[in-house]
Amino acid sequence: MKTQVGIIGGGPSGLLLSQLLHLQGIETVVLERHSREYVLARIRAGVLEHGFAALMREAQAAERMDREGEIHDGFFIAHDGIKDRVDLKGLTGGNSVVIYGQTELTRDLYDGRDKLGGIVVHNAEDVKPHDLESSRPYLTYRKGDELVRVDCDYLIGCDGFHGVSRKSIPKDKITEFDRVYPFGWLGVLSRTKPVSPELIYATHERGFALCSLRSQVLSRYYIQVPLKDSVQEWPDDRFWEELKRRLPPDVAAAMITGASIEKSIAPLRSFVAEPMRFGNLFLAGDAAHIVPPTGARGLNSAASDIFYLYHALVDHYKKKDDRGLDGYSQKALARVWKGQRFSWWMTMLLHRFPDSSTFDRRLQETELAYLFSSQKALASLAENYVGLPF
Ligand code: APR
Ligand code: PHB
Repeated sequence: MKTQVGIIGGGPSGLLLSQLLHLQGIETVVLERHSREYVLARIRAGVLEHGFAALMREAQAAERMDREGEIHDGFFIAHDGIKDRVDLKGLTGGNSVVIYGQTELTRDLYDGRDKLGGIVVHNAEDVKPHDLESSRPYLTYRKGDELVRVDCDYLIGCDGFHGVSRKSIPKDKITEFDRVYPFGWLGVLSRTKPVSPELIYATHERGFALCSLRSQVLSRYYIQVPLKDSVQEWPDDRFWEELKRRLPPDVAAAMITGASIEKSIAPLRSFVAEPMRFGNLFLAGDAAHIVPPTGARGLNSAASDIFYLYHALVDHYKKKDDRGLDGYSQKALARVWKGQRFSWWMTMLLHRFPDSSTFDRRLQETELAYLFSSQKALASLAENYVGLPF
Protein backbone atom coordinates (compact mmCIF):
# COMPACT_ATOMS: atom_id res chain seq x y z
CA MET A 1 0.00 0.00 0.00
CA LYS A 2 1.07 3.63 -0.42
CA THR A 3 -0.35 6.70 1.31
CA GLN A 4 0.72 10.19 2.32
CA VAL A 5 0.16 10.02 6.12
CA GLY A 6 0.36 6.66 7.94
CA ILE A 7 -1.40 6.78 11.33
CA ILE A 8 -0.83 4.17 14.05
CA GLY A 9 -3.86 3.91 16.36
CA GLY A 10 -7.60 4.16 15.76
CA GLY A 11 -8.55 5.96 18.98
CA PRO A 12 -9.85 9.52 19.12
CA SER A 13 -6.51 11.11 18.10
CA GLY A 14 -5.85 8.94 15.07
CA LEU A 15 -9.44 9.02 13.82
CA LEU A 16 -9.82 12.79 14.23
CA LEU A 17 -6.56 13.52 12.40
CA SER A 18 -7.37 11.16 9.53
CA GLN A 19 -10.86 12.66 9.18
CA LEU A 20 -9.56 16.24 9.11
CA LEU A 21 -6.81 15.44 6.57
CA HIS A 22 -9.18 13.45 4.35
CA LEU A 23 -11.47 16.50 4.08
CA GLN A 24 -8.44 18.44 2.77
CA GLY A 25 -7.73 15.77 0.15
CA ILE A 26 -4.75 14.33 2.03
CA GLU A 27 -4.55 10.52 1.96
CA THR A 28 -4.24 8.60 5.23
CA VAL A 29 -4.27 5.01 6.42
CA VAL A 30 -5.10 4.20 10.06
CA LEU A 31 -3.73 0.94 11.51
CA GLU A 32 -5.60 -0.16 14.65
CA ARG A 33 -4.47 -3.26 16.55
CA HIS A 34 -7.96 -4.08 17.87
CA SER A 35 -11.43 -4.51 16.42
CA ARG A 36 -13.83 -1.54 16.27
CA GLU A 37 -16.03 -3.21 18.90
CA TYR A 38 -13.05 -3.51 21.26
CA VAL A 39 -12.12 0.16 20.82
CA LEU A 40 -15.73 1.25 21.36
CA ALA A 41 -16.07 -0.85 24.53
CA ARG A 42 -13.62 1.43 26.37
CA ILE A 43 -15.20 3.69 29.01
CA ARG A 44 -13.37 7.02 29.12
CA ALA A 45 -13.96 10.55 30.40
CA GLY A 46 -16.41 12.89 28.78
CA VAL A 47 -15.54 16.57 29.26
CA LEU A 48 -14.70 18.32 25.97
CA GLU A 49 -13.11 21.76 25.74
CA HIS A 50 -14.78 24.11 23.27
CA GLY A 51 -11.64 23.81 21.09
CA PHE A 52 -12.11 20.05 20.81
CA ALA A 53 -15.80 20.45 20.05
CA ALA A 54 -14.89 22.92 17.27
CA LEU A 55 -12.44 20.41 15.77
CA MET A 56 -15.15 17.73 15.77
CA ARG A 57 -17.44 20.13 13.86
CA GLU A 58 -14.66 20.85 11.36
CA ALA A 59 -14.25 17.08 10.98
CA GLN A 60 -17.99 16.84 10.11
CA ALA A 61 -18.42 14.40 13.01
CA ALA A 62 -20.18 16.60 15.56
CA GLU A 63 -23.85 16.31 14.59
CA ARG A 64 -24.75 13.84 17.42
CA MET A 65 -22.42 15.60 19.89
CA ASP A 66 -24.23 18.89 19.26
CA ARG A 67 -27.59 17.12 19.56
CA GLU A 68 -26.95 14.88 22.59
CA GLY A 69 -23.96 16.51 24.33
CA GLU A 70 -24.72 18.75 27.32
CA ILE A 71 -23.27 22.25 27.51
CA HIS A 72 -22.04 22.88 31.07
CA ASP A 73 -21.41 26.48 32.18
CA GLY A 74 -19.90 25.51 35.52
CA PHE A 75 -19.11 22.81 38.04
CA PHE A 76 -18.92 22.47 41.85
CA ILE A 77 -16.11 21.84 44.29
CA ALA A 78 -17.45 20.25 47.48
CA HIS A 79 -15.48 20.70 50.69
CA ASP A 80 -16.21 20.94 54.43
CA GLY A 81 -19.83 19.85 53.90
CA ILE A 82 -20.65 22.56 51.35
CA LYS A 83 -20.51 23.07 47.55
CA ASP A 84 -18.90 26.10 45.90
CA ARG A 85 -19.63 26.68 42.21
CA VAL A 86 -16.99 27.54 39.61
CA ASP A 87 -18.83 29.73 37.10
CA LEU A 88 -16.93 28.78 33.95
CA LYS A 89 -19.06 30.92 31.65
CA GLY A 90 -18.94 34.02 33.84
CA LEU A 91 -15.23 33.71 34.57
CA THR A 92 -14.12 33.13 30.96
CA GLY A 93 -16.28 35.65 29.11
CA GLY A 94 -18.75 33.03 27.87
CA ASN A 95 -16.81 29.78 27.43
CA SER A 96 -18.11 26.40 28.62
CA VAL A 97 -17.48 22.67 28.14
CA VAL A 98 -19.43 19.91 26.39
CA ILE A 99 -20.22 16.76 28.36
CA TYR A 100 -20.20 13.91 25.82
CA GLY A 101 -18.76 10.42 26.41
CA GLN A 102 -15.49 9.63 24.63
CA THR A 103 -16.98 6.30 23.56
CA GLU A 104 -19.73 8.16 21.69
CA LEU A 105 -17.24 10.62 20.22
CA THR A 106 -15.07 7.74 18.96
CA ARG A 107 -18.16 6.09 17.48
CA ASP A 108 -19.00 9.34 15.67
CA LEU A 109 -15.46 9.54 14.30
CA TYR A 110 -15.68 5.96 13.03
CA ASP A 111 -18.99 6.80 11.35
CA GLY A 112 -17.33 9.86 9.81
CA ARG A 113 -14.51 7.72 8.42
CA ASP A 114 -17.05 5.29 6.98
CA LYS A 115 -18.99 8.14 5.31
CA LEU A 116 -15.82 9.41 3.60
CA GLY A 117 -14.62 5.92 2.75
CA GLY A 118 -11.57 6.40 5.00
CA ILE A 119 -9.15 3.46 5.35
CA VAL A 120 -9.05 2.11 8.91
CA VAL A 121 -7.41 -1.34 9.14
CA HIS A 122 -8.62 -3.21 12.24
CA ASN A 123 -6.86 -6.14 13.89
CA ALA A 124 -3.60 -4.89 12.38
CA GLU A 125 -1.09 -7.01 14.26
CA ASP A 126 2.52 -6.26 15.03
CA VAL A 127 2.48 -2.76 13.50
CA LYS A 128 6.05 -1.50 13.08
CA PRO A 129 7.34 1.90 11.88
CA HIS A 130 10.50 1.71 9.71
CA ASP A 131 13.14 4.13 8.30
CA LEU A 132 11.91 6.93 10.57
CA GLU A 133 14.75 9.27 9.50
CA SER A 134 14.43 8.64 5.78
CA SER A 135 12.22 10.58 3.36
CA ARG A 136 10.39 7.27 2.63
CA PRO A 137 9.38 5.92 6.03
CA TYR A 138 6.99 2.98 6.00
CA LEU A 139 4.79 0.85 8.22
CA THR A 140 4.44 -2.92 8.25
CA TYR A 141 1.74 -4.98 9.91
CA ARG A 142 0.49 -8.53 9.88
CA LYS A 143 -2.99 -9.52 8.77
CA GLY A 144 -3.23 -13.20 9.55
CA ASP A 145 -0.07 -14.67 8.07
CA GLU A 146 0.25 -11.93 5.44
CA LEU A 147 2.85 -9.18 6.00
CA VAL A 148 1.68 -5.83 4.58
CA ARG A 149 3.86 -2.79 3.89
CA VAL A 150 2.49 0.79 3.76
CA ASP A 151 4.82 3.38 2.17
CA CYS A 152 4.23 6.88 3.63
CA ASP A 153 5.53 10.42 3.56
CA TYR A 154 4.92 10.81 7.30
CA LEU A 155 4.11 8.53 10.26
CA ILE A 156 1.90 9.70 13.12
CA GLY A 157 1.97 7.79 16.42
CA CYS A 158 -1.57 8.00 17.84
CA ASP A 159 -1.22 4.60 19.50
CA GLY A 160 -1.62 5.65 23.12
CA PHE A 161 0.63 5.21 26.11
CA HIS A 162 1.29 1.51 25.50
CA GLY A 163 1.77 1.89 21.76
CA VAL A 164 4.73 1.01 19.55
CA SER A 165 5.58 4.46 18.13
CA ARG A 166 7.22 6.14 21.15
CA LYS A 167 9.15 2.91 21.83
CA SER A 168 10.50 3.01 18.25
CA ILE A 169 12.45 6.18 19.00
CA PRO A 170 16.07 5.48 20.08
CA LYS A 171 16.37 5.84 23.87
CA ASP A 172 19.10 8.47 23.55
CA LYS A 173 16.83 10.64 21.38
CA ILE A 174 13.91 10.90 23.81
CA THR A 175 13.49 12.16 27.39
CA GLU A 176 10.61 10.99 29.59
CA PHE A 177 9.14 12.96 32.51
CA ASP A 178 7.04 10.91 34.88
CA ARG A 179 5.05 11.12 38.12
CA VAL A 180 2.99 8.27 39.55
CA TYR A 181 0.39 9.18 42.21
CA PRO A 182 -0.01 7.00 45.35
CA PHE A 183 -3.70 6.19 44.74
CA GLY A 184 -6.17 5.26 42.00
CA TRP A 185 -9.74 6.14 40.96
CA LEU A 186 -12.47 3.53 41.37
CA GLY A 187 -15.05 4.42 38.70
CA VAL A 188 -18.68 3.24 38.43
CA LEU A 189 -21.15 3.68 35.58
CA SER A 190 -24.83 3.29 36.56
CA ARG A 191 -28.16 3.74 34.77
CA THR A 192 -29.34 6.26 37.35
CA LYS A 193 -30.30 9.92 37.19
CA PRO A 194 -27.18 12.00 37.98
CA VAL A 195 -27.25 13.46 41.49
CA SER A 196 -26.35 16.92 40.16
CA PRO A 197 -26.93 18.72 36.85
CA GLU A 198 -23.27 19.83 36.96
CA LEU A 199 -20.13 17.94 37.98
CA ILE A 200 -19.14 17.87 41.64
CA TYR A 201 -15.46 17.44 42.52
CA ALA A 202 -15.36 16.60 46.25
CA THR A 203 -12.38 16.76 48.58
CA HIS A 204 -12.78 15.01 51.93
CA GLU A 205 -10.56 13.61 54.70
CA ARG A 206 -11.59 10.12 53.53
CA GLY A 207 -10.44 10.95 50.00
CA PHE A 208 -11.49 12.50 46.70
CA ALA A 209 -14.84 11.81 44.99
CA LEU A 210 -16.35 12.94 41.69
CA CYS A 211 -19.98 13.02 40.55
CA SER A 212 -20.15 13.13 36.76
CA LEU A 213 -22.57 11.96 34.07
CA ARG A 214 -22.93 10.70 30.49
CA SER A 215 -26.59 11.74 30.08
CA GLN A 216 -29.66 12.40 32.24
CA VAL A 217 -30.08 8.62 32.64
CA LEU A 218 -26.45 7.54 32.88
CA SER A 219 -24.25 8.58 35.85
CA ARG A 220 -20.51 8.29 36.26
CA TYR A 221 -19.01 8.36 39.79
CA TYR A 222 -15.46 8.00 41.11
CA ILE A 223 -13.79 7.67 44.51
CA GLN A 224 -10.09 7.79 45.29
CA VAL A 225 -8.87 4.37 46.53
CA PRO A 226 -5.46 3.02 47.64
CA LEU A 227 -3.41 1.56 44.77
CA LYS A 228 -3.48 -1.87 46.46
CA ASP A 229 -7.31 -2.08 46.22
CA SER A 230 -9.04 -4.35 43.71
CA VAL A 231 -12.52 -4.04 42.20
CA GLN A 232 -13.50 -7.26 43.99
CA GLU A 233 -13.12 -5.42 47.34
CA TRP A 234 -15.72 -2.85 46.26
CA PRO A 235 -19.17 -4.38 45.86
CA ASP A 236 -21.78 -1.80 44.81
CA ASP A 237 -23.18 -1.26 48.32
CA ARG A 238 -19.75 -0.48 49.74
CA PHE A 239 -19.04 1.89 46.84
CA TRP A 240 -22.29 3.88 47.23
CA GLU A 241 -21.82 4.08 51.03
CA GLU A 242 -18.27 5.45 50.66
CA LEU A 243 -19.20 7.86 47.89
CA LYS A 244 -22.00 9.36 50.00
CA ARG A 245 -19.69 9.72 53.03
CA ARG A 246 -17.42 11.99 50.98
CA LEU A 247 -20.20 14.29 49.74
CA PRO A 248 -22.06 17.15 51.45
CA PRO A 249 -25.12 15.82 53.37
CA ASP A 250 -27.67 17.32 50.96
CA VAL A 251 -25.94 15.69 47.96
CA ALA A 252 -25.60 12.33 49.73
CA ALA A 253 -29.30 12.44 50.64
CA ALA A 254 -30.27 13.06 47.01
CA MET A 255 -28.03 10.30 45.60
CA ILE A 256 -29.92 7.75 43.48
CA THR A 257 -27.97 4.49 43.66
CA GLY A 258 -28.23 1.52 41.34
CA ALA A 259 -26.40 -1.48 39.93
CA SER A 260 -22.98 -0.71 38.41
CA ILE A 261 -22.85 -1.55 34.68
CA GLU A 262 -19.12 -0.87 34.62
CA LYS A 263 -16.64 -0.76 37.51
CA SER A 264 -12.87 -0.34 37.24
CA ILE A 265 -9.85 1.08 39.06
CA ALA A 266 -7.47 3.34 37.09
CA PRO A 267 -4.06 4.48 38.34
CA LEU A 268 -3.17 8.19 38.16
CA ARG A 269 -0.06 9.24 36.29
CA SER A 270 1.57 12.33 34.76
CA PHE A 271 3.85 11.61 31.82
CA VAL A 272 5.46 13.57 28.98
CA ALA A 273 7.89 12.40 26.28
CA GLU A 274 10.12 15.01 24.62
CA PRO A 275 10.51 15.73 21.76
CA MET A 276 7.24 14.73 20.06
CA ARG A 277 9.00 14.19 16.73
CA PHE A 278 11.81 11.92 15.54
CA GLY A 279 12.67 12.12 11.85
CA ASN A 280 9.36 11.71 10.01
CA LEU A 281 7.56 10.15 12.99
CA PHE A 282 5.32 12.51 14.96
CA LEU A 283 3.75 11.57 18.35
CA ALA A 284 0.28 12.80 19.32
CA GLY A 285 -2.14 12.25 22.21
CA ASP A 286 -1.55 9.57 24.81
CA ALA A 287 1.42 8.26 22.79
CA ALA A 288 3.30 11.34 23.99
CA HIS A 289 1.63 12.36 27.25
CA ILE A 290 -0.67 11.20 30.04
CA VAL A 291 -2.43 13.27 32.70
CA PRO A 292 -4.29 12.26 35.88
CA PRO A 293 -8.04 12.53 35.06
CA THR A 294 -8.70 15.15 37.76
CA GLY A 295 -8.61 18.07 35.37
CA ALA A 296 -10.38 16.23 32.49
CA ARG A 297 -7.44 17.14 30.22
CA GLY A 298 -6.69 13.70 28.66
CA LEU A 299 -8.59 13.92 25.40
CA ASN A 300 -8.29 17.71 25.35
CA SER A 301 -4.47 17.57 25.39
CA ALA A 302 -4.67 15.29 22.34
CA ALA A 303 -6.87 17.90 20.61
CA SER A 304 -4.16 20.55 20.38
CA ASP A 305 -1.61 18.02 19.07
CA ILE A 306 -4.07 17.05 16.32
CA PHE A 307 -4.89 20.70 15.58
CA TYR A 308 -1.18 21.57 15.12
CA LEU A 309 -0.42 18.44 13.05
CA TYR A 310 -3.48 18.92 10.88
CA HIS A 311 -2.52 22.51 9.95
CA ALA A 312 1.17 21.64 9.57
CA LEU A 313 0.41 18.80 7.14
CA VAL A 314 -2.05 20.89 5.13
CA ASP A 315 0.61 23.65 4.87
CA HIS A 316 3.16 21.06 3.72
CA TYR A 317 0.99 19.49 1.03
CA LYS A 318 -0.81 22.63 -0.16
CA LYS A 319 1.82 25.36 0.28
CA LYS A 320 5.09 23.37 0.51
CA ASP A 321 5.52 25.20 3.82
CA ASP A 322 7.19 23.01 6.49
CA ARG A 323 7.35 25.54 9.32
CA GLY A 324 4.39 23.85 11.07
CA LEU A 325 6.03 20.42 10.91
CA ASP A 326 9.42 21.76 11.99
CA GLY A 327 7.83 23.69 14.89
CA TYR A 328 5.31 21.00 15.90
CA SER A 329 7.10 19.45 18.87
CA GLN A 330 7.97 22.73 20.53
CA LYS A 331 4.50 24.21 19.96
CA ALA A 332 2.65 21.05 21.07
CA LEU A 333 4.78 20.62 24.19
CA ALA A 334 4.17 24.22 25.30
CA ARG A 335 0.43 23.50 25.59
CA VAL A 336 0.90 19.88 26.77
CA TRP A 337 2.91 21.10 29.76
CA LYS A 338 0.24 23.67 30.65
CA GLY A 339 -2.26 20.81 30.70
CA GLN A 340 0.15 18.82 32.86
CA ARG A 341 0.48 21.68 35.30
CA PHE A 342 -3.28 22.14 35.62
CA SER A 343 -3.96 18.40 36.03
CA TRP A 344 -1.22 18.12 38.65
CA TRP A 345 -2.55 21.21 40.48
CA MET A 346 -6.17 19.91 40.56
CA THR A 347 -4.91 16.50 41.75
CA MET A 348 -2.80 18.03 44.54
CA LEU A 349 -5.70 20.29 45.56
CA LEU A 350 -8.40 17.64 45.88
CA HIS A 351 -6.83 14.32 46.91
CA ARG A 352 -5.63 12.99 50.25
CA PHE A 353 -1.96 11.96 49.97
CA PRO A 354 -1.12 9.08 52.33
CA ASP A 355 2.26 10.50 53.29
CA SER A 356 1.29 14.18 53.49
CA SER A 357 2.58 16.13 56.49
CA THR A 358 0.48 18.45 58.63
CA PHE A 359 2.17 21.31 56.76
CA ASP A 360 1.03 19.79 53.41
CA ARG A 361 -2.53 19.57 54.75
CA ARG A 362 -2.54 23.21 55.82
CA LEU A 363 -1.20 24.23 52.41
CA GLN A 364 -3.97 22.25 50.73
CA GLU A 365 -6.65 23.87 52.92
CA THR A 366 -5.15 27.31 52.25
CA GLU A 367 -5.02 26.69 48.47
CA LEU A 368 -8.75 25.93 48.56
CA ALA A 369 -9.52 28.90 50.82
CA TYR A 370 -7.51 31.22 48.56
CA LEU A 371 -9.24 29.84 45.44
CA PHE A 372 -12.71 30.71 46.72
CA SER A 373 -11.59 34.07 48.14
CA SER A 374 -10.24 35.35 44.81
CA GLN A 375 -12.08 35.86 41.54
CA LYS A 376 -8.67 36.00 39.84
CA ALA A 377 -7.71 32.58 41.23
CA LEU A 378 -11.08 31.17 40.11
CA ALA A 379 -10.64 32.73 36.67
CA SER A 380 -7.28 30.98 36.36
CA LEU A 381 -8.90 27.62 37.17
CA ALA A 382 -11.77 28.35 34.78
CA GLU A 383 -9.60 29.35 31.79
CA ASN A 384 -7.64 26.11 32.14
CA TYR A 385 -10.76 23.97 32.55
CA VAL A 386 -12.57 25.34 29.44
CA GLY A 387 -9.29 25.04 27.53
CA LEU A 388 -6.34 27.34 26.91
CA PRO A 389 -6.12 28.63 23.33
CA PHE A 390 -4.49 26.34 20.74
N1 APR B 1 -0.59 -0.87 16.80
C1 APR B 1 -1.80 -0.38 16.40
N2 APR B 1 -2.68 0.25 17.23
C2 APR B 1 -2.29 0.38 18.52
C3 APR B 1 -1.06 -0.10 19.02
C4 APR B 1 -0.18 -0.75 18.09
N3 APR B 1 1.01 -1.21 18.48
N4 APR B 1 -0.98 0.19 20.34
C5 APR B 1 -2.12 0.82 20.66
N5 APR B 1 -2.92 0.93 19.59
C6 APR B 1 -4.26 1.54 19.49
C7 APR B 1 -5.12 1.25 20.71
O1 APR B 1 -5.84 0.03 20.53
C8 APR B 1 -6.05 2.45 20.74
O2 APR B 1 -7.25 2.22 20.01
O3 APR B 1 -4.08 2.94 19.51
C9 APR B 1 -5.25 3.55 20.05
C10 APR B 1 -4.81 4.62 21.06
O4 APR B 1 -5.98 5.29 21.52
P1 APR B 1 -6.01 6.01 22.98
O5 APR B 1 -5.23 5.19 23.95
O6 APR B 1 -7.44 6.34 23.28
O7 APR B 1 -5.16 7.35 22.75
P2 APR B 1 -5.59 8.67 21.96
O8 APR B 1 -6.29 8.34 20.68
O9 APR B 1 -4.39 9.53 21.96
O10 APR B 1 -6.72 9.34 22.87
C11 APR B 1 -6.39 9.95 24.05
O11 APR B 1 -8.05 8.56 25.00
O12 APR B 1 -7.18 6.93 26.33
C12 APR B 1 -7.86 8.11 26.36
O13 APR B 1 -7.32 9.21 28.36
C13 APR B 1 -7.05 9.15 27.01
O14 APR B 1 -8.75 10.67 26.75
C14 APR B 1 -7.47 10.32 26.27
C15 APR B 1 -7.64 9.88 24.88
C1 PHB C 1 -15.94 11.52 33.59
O1 PHB C 1 -17.11 11.87 33.39
O2 PHB C 1 -15.54 10.34 33.35
C2 PHB C 1 -14.94 12.54 34.12
C3 PHB C 1 -15.31 13.86 34.22
C4 PHB C 1 -14.41 14.81 34.69
C5 PHB C 1 -13.13 14.40 35.07
C6 PHB C 1 -12.75 13.06 34.95
C7 PHB C 1 -13.66 12.12 34.48
O3 PHB C 1 -12.24 15.33 35.54
